[in-house]
Order: sequence, then structure tokens, then C-alpha cells
Amino acid sequence: MTAYEKLQNALACVRAKTDFVPDVALILGSGLGALADEIDAVATIDYHEIEGFPVSTVMGHKGRFVFGYFGDTKVVIMQGRVHYYEGYSREDILLPTRLMVLMGAKVLFLTNAAGGVNRSFSAGDFMLITDHIMTLFPNPLLGPNMDELGPRFPDMSEVYDKKLCQTIRDTAARLGTPLQEGVYCQLTGPTFETPAEVRLLTALGVDAVGMSTASEAVAARHAGIKVCGISCITNQAAGISPQPLSHEEVFETGNRVAPLFRELVKESIIAIGGQL
Ligand code: HPA
Repeated sequence: MTAYEKLQNALACVRAKTDFVPDVALILGSGLGALADEIDAVATIDYHEIEGFPVSTVMGHKGRFVFGYFGDTKVVIMQGRVHYYEGYSREDILLPTRLMVLMGAKVLFLTNAAGGVNRSFSAGDFMLITDHIMTLFPNPLLGPNMDELGPRFPDMSEVYDKKLCQTIRDTAARLGTPLQEGVYCQLTGPTFETPAEVRLLTALGVDAVGMSTASEAVAARHAGIKVCGISCITNQAAGISPQPLSHEEVFETGNRVAPLFRELVKESIIAIGGQL
């Protein structure tokens, strides 16, 4: 079976359950999954109900699609994502994003928990992602090109759509929520970085580091849909923070700022929906 056939099979599983056509696809990061509980769900599909779908194993990741509305905007939420460090192939990492593209999503809204590399960031800050660095990570589009979705050599000069970024800035200002901005770097994980690696990232111009997001952004841009995203800085990166890093800390900070984060994401999506 080709990767495209696998994708079509997954789409058929979704379509057997719901004919919902989302405007915006939202991927929720670690500790941020509760946002999906806010939506008036019109349908939910567990990942294991979808043929060929990679199922996440991370604590705090639920593993289902939730379909519903934020205001008038039709949204499909991925409550729980799949990560490279879980051992999935590149193709499996891309499948969920590609599936949401085929469902009809016009915008991919990414969220994640990230370590703050920029020394002016504190745990609990939010960062608008203005660009990313994925050079240290195996390119997710290595291998045969899925010609049905997009070109062999996709342009990446504006991964994070400028207009969507402005909408998020405007929404944060309206809500009175402080918003940092910067460059996100995806590494494979599962180790957190060493202090030397964080110094390397600083030298490269990275503001926040994590283990997701950029590959999904690339999948979405390859398939021609727009992308935007916000990182929740759950901790200062290694060597900046005086204490050792842990998934518990990431999770706790995510939970602590979740109400503000939820509001920012939800209101941004309502505003974005109004512009589509
Ligand atoms: N490094 C990598 N990924 C992360 C971090 C970090 O410090 N915090 C949350 N996700």
C-alpha cells in the first residue's frame, strides 16, 4: 500500500463517522489538551478507530479527534499528537496533519509546550511562533514525494502566515495577554537538551525548543494550507533554569496557565475563522 492509499483509508474511516468539514485544524501540546473539553463536540473519533493511524503513548496525550465549533469557526482538534521520539516513521508523523488537510482544513493552528532558550522568557510565557529551525531534525519530507498533496521542493519562506500571526497578536492585545515572539526549533527528543546544546541553539537564533510542531508545519505547507502557532514556555531551557528539567514541570506549568492559553487560542481561532 502506498502512503497516499494509507491516507485515503484513514480518511474513509473518518468519513464513515462524520462528514464534518473543518475550517481550522488545531493540534494541542502537552498539558494543553483540556482545551478540547471546552468545545461543543459534534463528533469525536479515537485514533485507534482509524486504520493505520499512529497512536500516541505520551502521558497527558489523550489520542482523539474532536470536531466542533469555536464561535462560528468549524474546528477539528487533535487532542494528543504523535512524536518522532515515540519511534514512528516520518510518514506516520505526517499522517495526522495530512488527514486534517484532506478533511478540508484551510488553516493549521499549532500549539506546544517548549523550553525557553531566549533568556528573557519565563516559565508560563506564551510565544507566537514566527519561524522555525528544523535543520537539526531529519526532514519529515525525506523519501518519495506525495505528489497528490504538493511539490517535491516546497517553498518555506513564510511557514507561519504573516496575516494569521497578526490576528493572534491583535487577539492577545485585546485580551490583555502578554505575548512573546520568536523562532521555534524542533529536535527529536526524548532527552531534554544539555546546557551546551542550549548555548548552540542560542547561537543559532533559537528562542524556544521542543520536540514537535515544525514537522507538522512542514506537512501543512507542503500541502498548501496556512499555518500559525503558539508555544507555551513551560520551563527555561537546560542551563538557564537552575533546576533539572522534568516532564512533570512541563505538565504543571501547562496546567497552571491553561485557562489563559485556552482563551488566547480559542479567541484567535474565532478571529481567524471570521477572515476565511
Ligand atoms: N526542551 C525540549 N522540549 C521541551 C522543553 C525543553 O526544555 N520543555 C517542553 N518541551
